[in-house]
Amino acid sequence: MKVMGIESSCDETAVAIVEGETDILSDVVASQNEIHNRYGGVVPELASRRHMEVIVSVAEEALARARVAPQELDAIAVTCGPGLIGSLLVGLSFAKGLAYGWGKPLLGVNHLEGHLLSIFLEQELAFPYLGLVASGGHTSLYLVNGFGEYELLGATLDDAVGEAFDKVAKLLGLGYPGGAIIDRLAKDGDPAAIEFPRASLSGNALNFSFSGVKTAVAYFVRRLKPEELATRLADLVAGFQEAAVDMLLERARLAACKLGLRRVVICGGVASNSRLRRRFKEELGLLNKEVFFPSPSHCTDNGAMIAHAGLRRLIKGESSSLALDAQSSLPLGGRASGIFSWGSPRPSQNK
Ligand code: KG4
Ligand code: ZN
Repeated sequence: MKVMGIESSCDETAVAIVEGETDILSDVVASQNEIHNRYGGVVPELASRRHMEVIVSVAEEALARARVAPQELDAIAVTCGPGLIGSLLVGLSFAKGLAYGWGKPLLGVNHLEGHLLSIFLEQELAFPYLGLVASGGHTSLYLVNGFGEYELLGATLDDAVGEAFDKVAKLLGLGYPGGAIIDRLAKDGDPAAIEFPRASLSGNALNFSFSGVKTAVAYFVRRLKPEELATRLADLVAGFQEAAVDMLLERARLAACKLGLRRVVICGGVASNSRLRRRFKEELGLLNKEVFFPSPSHCTDNGAMIAHAGLRRLIKGESSSLALDAQSSLPLGGRASGIFSWGSPRPSQNK
């Protein structure tokens, strides 16, 4: 079966054609980094306007590279939430037009499900596993019991981890998106030279918080003399990155051990981080956990993961109505019960 996957929830316009579970015939991503770079973050209106401009040519290129004609497609899968509402509406409206015009089933996909299943584009994996979505919009920990079977274990109460990387990069004047830049600069720094706080939360111990470490970096920078910033930059970003990785790793370790899970999948843009990859492999490996990462191009937003999640739903005989609406806040799965108390406030899933 051949499925077209369309992704436009944030600042990537992406269309892929996937055949079966793993055969990626094309995977086209038009990034908007150069548009948002000068603002140090995504400007929602500019993002949706850019999606409007490029989505047709991105889809045409995906079909051409795959050498697939529209009649050969079995379904159109599209991200319907969570994300920036204007951006989502562009992709969803476009997908509906294609599904209607070509007479194909439409499959609305939750963006988080796309990330959680992205590993299957590259390899088979047994259930259950612990899935950590670590991206610019989300930091959520899931128990994945099967395709379509997700239990939310914990989520960030404030900033997503990628958002914290981007905000720290912005305050240091490093550019957007900041994650990859910090990753690179931190290689020259000592992660133990400057220690930033690690949030530990009352209530659900699997929830996250990254606004404290971001604020601590801002205070630290404010106390530096301008000439000191350049000499301390590498240690500064290495110290911040270490705190962020520590917080992710601690929750993943706790959840995997408490639930007796042997497999841990880390996905989303921040899963490209080289320090995170090394420490997760090494430290969870010592506990006999197997750690899996999609390749970096499948960690950041892409159409292939949406096509794949759509395919899994198509196989189950599901499809969406053409009345499907986009939702900026779209929870995935129910909250796991009986493991940790959820406490309050309610974790946000919609940033
Ligand atoms: O998954 P993604 O493409 O979009 C969302 O769904 O949010 O993730 C983008 C995020 C950005 O915040 C970016 O700074 C971060 O992933 N990122 C990284 C790295 N590469 C991308 N963060 C840390 N280290 C990296 N190497
Ligand atoms: Zn994403």
